[in-house]
Amino acid sequence: MLVLGIEGTAWNLSAAVVSDEGEVAEVSHTYVPKEGGIHPREAAQHHSEHMPRILEQLCECMAQKGLSLRDVDGVAFSQGPGLGPALRTVATAARTLSMMLEVPLVGVNHCLAHIEIGKWDTGAHDPMVVYASGANTQILALSKGRYRVFGETIDIGLGNALDKFARAIGMSHPGGPKIEQLARKANSYVPLPYTVKGMDLAFSGLITAAKNATREHPIEDVCFSLQEHAFAMLVEVSERAIAHTGKEEVLLVGGVGANERLSEMMRIMCTERGIAYHRPKKRYLGDNGTMIAILGMRMLKHGITTPIERSEVIAGYRPDMVEVVW
Ligand code: ATP
Ligand code: FE2
Repeated sequence: MLVLGIEGTAWNLSAAVVSDEGEVAEVSHTYVPKEGGIHPREAAQHHSEHMPRILEQLCECMAQKGLSLRDVDGVAFSQGPGLGPALRTVATAARTLSMMLEVPLVGVNHCLAHIEIGKWDTGAHDPMVVYASGANTQILALSKGRYRVFGETIDIGLGNALDKFARAIGMSHPGGPKIEQLARKANSYVPLPYTVKGMDLAFSGLITAAKNATREHPIEDVCFSLQEHAFAMLVEVSERAIAHTGKEEVLLVGGVGANERLSEMMRIMCTERGIAYHRPKKRYLGDNGTMIAILGMRMLKHGITTPIERSEVIAGYRPDMVEVVW
């Protein structure tokens, strides 16, 4: 089976084709705002401008392997969560391709796609998932046919929080990797707010305090301390979720998962508890078309398709809204 997947919930527009053996081709293009944060309409504009070229390049990659769009058995797309205008642009392209190629359309939940590619790439079987990306931060695991959210951010996603702090001190997007580099050069620890409420997390207060701390402390020390606080909060909630559910694996996914310090802290927690720790390759942590195609293929193989009349985008699509039958 060959499935085409398109991702475009936020910054990154990416189209990929996967087969039963794995990835066949992937082509991506990222929107970088001139200043400030992401503008939903600008992201949509970016996606619609780049869609034709991305698909052309994907066809060229397929041709090198003796394949064409006509060989595709289904078209999967990110149905949500994400920015409405960006989602609609991707959905329109996916509907068009599905009708043109006369193959089924499959609307995919973006969060579940992050999880599925993580499992696919690492061989994780039934993990406690730590999903830390730009807009989302959730601790989830499969229970009674759905990925249940055991804990999550109650304000902003960890990646967006890091990006916000970085922007405030004059760094360009994305801030996460720059903060990680600066943190490596730190000499001391600055106490900052640590906000875990039950199983939930909040990052706004931490970011405000970190911004203020840059007036009195070296930037490297603030970056280091910001990471230590935010990641420790995430590890605490993950560990509690594991203790209650008895899961024996942790799977770290989402763009922030690229952070080596976060990965190290998760690994230490897993080693201390005697459970397995998994993290997919870097290119599968951030948003990518392959993850949409992989989950699309799983769904298609279980007979799940999305009729055009039910293919409207779902900006607030939660992972626990989806029954997991694959
Ligand atoms: P979602 O829609 O799933 O919330 P997203 O579209 O915001 O995702 P991802 O590609 O999953 O994006 O993640 C992007 C985020 O990851 C950005 O906020 C970026 O700063 C952060 N990030 C990337 N690399 C690192 C790193 N090394 N350390 C910390 N954060 C990082
Ligand atoms: Fe994402």
